Amino acid sequence: MLDGHAMSAPEHNGKLYIETVGCQMNMLDSELVVAELRKQGFSLTSDVKDADTILFNTCSVRDHAEHKIYSQLGRLKFSKRARPNQVIGVMGCMAQKDQELIFNRAPHVDLVVGTGQLKEIPRLIDEARSERGRRMAVSLDRKEGSRAEVASSFESYDPARDPTMRPTPFQAFVRIMIGCDKFCTYCVVPMTRGPEQSRPPREIAHEVKLLAQQGVKEVTLLGQTVNSYKVTQDGKLFRLSDLLELIHDTAGILRLKFVTNYPRDMTDDLLQAVRDLPKVAQYLHVPAQSGCDEILKRMKRGYTVGEYREMHARIREKLPTAAVSSDFIVGMCGETDESYQKSLDLIRECRFKNSFIFKYSPRPGTKAIDLWDDDVPEEIKRRRNNEMLDLQNHISEEDNANLIGSTFEVLVEGISKSARKAQAAEALDDSFVPQNSEAEPAAGPTQLVGRTRCDRIVVFDGNPRLAGNLAEIAIHDCSATTLMGSIVTHESEHRSYSLPVVS
Ligand code: 5AD
Ligand code: SF4
Repeated sequence: MLDGHAMSAPEHNGKLYIETVGCQMNMLDSELVVAELRKQGFSLTSDVKDADTILFNTCSVRDHAEHKIYSQLGRLKFSKRARPNQVIGVMGCMAQKDQELIFNRAPHVDLVVGTGQLKEIPRLIDEARSERGRRMAVSLDRKEGSRAEVASSFESYDPARDPTMRPTPFQAFVRIMIGCDKFCTYCVVPMTRGPEQSRPPREIAHEVKLLAQQGVKEVTLLGQTVNSYKVTQDGKLFRLSDLLELIHDTAGILRLKFVTNYPRDMTDDLLQAVRDLPKVAQYLHVPAQSGCDEILKRMKRGYTVGEYREMHARIREKLPTAAVSSDFIVGMCGETDESYQKSLDLIRECRFKNSFIFKYSPRPGTKAIDLWDDDVPEEIKRRRNNEMLDLQNHISEEDNANLIGSTFEVLVEGISKSARKAQAAEALDDSFVPQNSEAEPAAGPTQLVGRTRCDRIVVFDGNPRLAGNLAEIAIHDCSATTLMGSIVTHESEHRSYSLPVVS
């Protein structure tokens, strides 16, 4: 039984299971909710069967992500038979979008909490458990009332962080904007995340400083259209370029990144900041979505392909070594083979580092679903998706191959996924072998993973203690997604040493 907050609530084991799908915003939201619940005495479990409190942090951008959550919920239909005090909650975008519908489709759900009400979760869990009643907290509309509520939610919430929920202990997300006012016709985000609001620079700088003091080395600034950031503080206008400058010299921070950019707001001052501030990653994710003017117009993206090209040329001119990546939607209503071919042309021309490719998914609440039929058959969407991915992979591999022989400064993230899998398999094998307590764990290098300043993934052998440090890596091989290399060892007359020195 937990103390404090939960005094009047029935017995529960204090174990929380949380599953997060969707974007980095959701990862950050989960981190904040877990931090708050830890303060109430909860601990995390990775086994849903062991949890008296279950949360799903959801995504509504595509139908597929929602299906996944509803089927997960379906699997929990009878789990309260064994655990009558269990509380099951749905939070995030799908909660905001579906509201009551979630209770109708999954009557065993106790909580539905929108993106702007996350700070209420501890109280709502308590109430749902003690009163055995459903609780719902969502924004009622996008207007002023919910605007203030959402703003206060992220401001009062962000300073409390849970390092165990981060990608690694030294990488953290910092929200600088919430919501979106762009209203692309296919996109549900303006409805689920509310109106676009930028956070005051002072608060962001404070949060970055706190994170650095906790050992964070890399901060990724988050916003749906992060380069639309704009705040007037003490009579001075702060754009993203000003914000980057403000936080750049925070002691302990080695890298700054920002995602996701909106093509129309890729202004020269931002490109100059990326060029001149050495800690800022030379990486720009700027989704094009389509290479066809008619489709871009239908999407209401606010630019033509010519304007996207012009923006891309400016990036190449000002930042010749920067990596640019994109998102594309295939099979948007009305997309002909000709318009699809124009997207392929844009990919060939811009040679993106990588592209995230999505099949159009009609979303309730968007303009596109009201105005047009979803008229591109699924098998054509699938074929276009696969073909586009093949083209992008081909380009990525060619461009990566050009980097063989170069040396990059890499921020080491930790043990690579494949090395972790191999270690787990080995541990499993070992369990059948009598353990010798005297035996030393196998010494020697492990495959590590890190990223270059251009956000390219690099694997190399090294000591796991390098995690969180910069290392110099010489590249000798590649695939479409990964560079393979080895740590550069500097020889000198009196001694040889490896970079970097880790104390
Ligand atoms: N269908 C398919 N893809 C979508 N995206 C957003 N809405 C939809 C949708 N309805 C994609 C866009 C966006 C990315 C996060 O998701 O490419 O940039
Ligand atoms: Fe969605 Fe468009 Fe806003 Fe991106 S800019 S979140 S695609 S509405």
